[in-house]
Amino acid sequence: MPRDPTPSSFSHRHLLGIEDLSPDDINLLLDLADSYVALNRRAEKKRDLLRGRTQINMFFESSTRTRTSFELAGKRLGADVINMAPSTSAIKKGETLVDTAATLNAMHPDLLIVRHPDSGAVKLLARSVRAAVINAGDGSHEHPTQALLDALTIRRRLGRLSGLTVAICGDIAHSRVARSNILLLNTMGARVRLVAPPTLLPTRVDRYGVEVHHDMTEGLKDADIVMMLRLQTERMQGSFVPSQREYFQFYGLTYEKIAHARSDALIMHPGPMNRGIEIDSEVADDINRSAILDQVEMGVAVRQACLELLTGNLDHPEHNQ
Ligand code: NCD
Repeated sequence: MPRDPTPSSFSHRHLLGIEDLSPDDINLLLDLADSYVALNRRAEKKRDLLRGRTQINMFFESSTRTRTSFELAGKRLGADVINMAPSTSAIKKGETLVDTAATLNAMHPDLLIVRHPDSGAVKLLARSVRAAVINAGDGSHEHPTQALLDALTIRRRLGRLSGLTVAICGDIAHSRVARSNILLLNTMGARVRLVAPPTLLPTRVDRYGVEVHHDMTEGLKDADIVMMLRLQTERMQGSFVPSQREYFQFYGLTYEKIAHARSDALIMHPGPMNRGIEIDSEVADDINRSAILDQVEMGVAVRQACLELLTGNLDHPEHNQ
């Protein structure tokens, strides 16, 4: 059962990236999230931990899973949740992000959940508000709650993170999910392999402390987890692969390719999936191997844990400059 808020050792004012978190922070978040999974499976899901608090979701990029799960997480904890739609907001009239932040700040929200197409934009916004800010994805930089929900999914299925071999495959270059996962998995002692064509790897990939493969057969060999990523064409200028058909042939996850991983390897995908491009439909729907819908379930629990821990720090004197 999620407990009443107690002074915790989670000292952060915002959640902007995995790069700011220690192994203790990550374990604390995952342990708390674990207790929310059970609560979310009950008929009565509501608590009043965030009663009186206001949460504003500001999504400057489209989202299904992340926005809905932050909304559910806030509502299940008793917060008043508002969804700001940038397409109908003053941003469209030329207002800057910082002016929008100052405007919202004047209404005294407690939690701002922000997704933005530009890397670094969420950090910039966090500097001009009193609310706790959660990065729900900034450009190709970070998506910390996705890495946390992936870690919770793995931990619940395989009992640990440390020592596992995780193959992250596909468009790594444009993926904030990959970046946050690499940081988290390295911090928690897992071994990370990136599997992608050279055009879809980030520049200076040697800095990431991972193994790099261009071939799925080698990259998937004996992997415990196979994490697939979408081709993020909205972040590409020009074409990065010869054709989607060819991409599927070399990098699409099929039963033939997964046979190189461990026989009980878990298949993961943050969604949205493009069936027939990075993953074969049958593989994606394989109830024995695919953890894709588990990931969605864990998303709500992880976001509840983040909201709880950050709200607990809101009235901290050091955070009220
Ligand atoms: C990811 C994202 O937005 O970065 N999706 C998600 O949050 N579940 C991955 C993607 O868009 O491909």
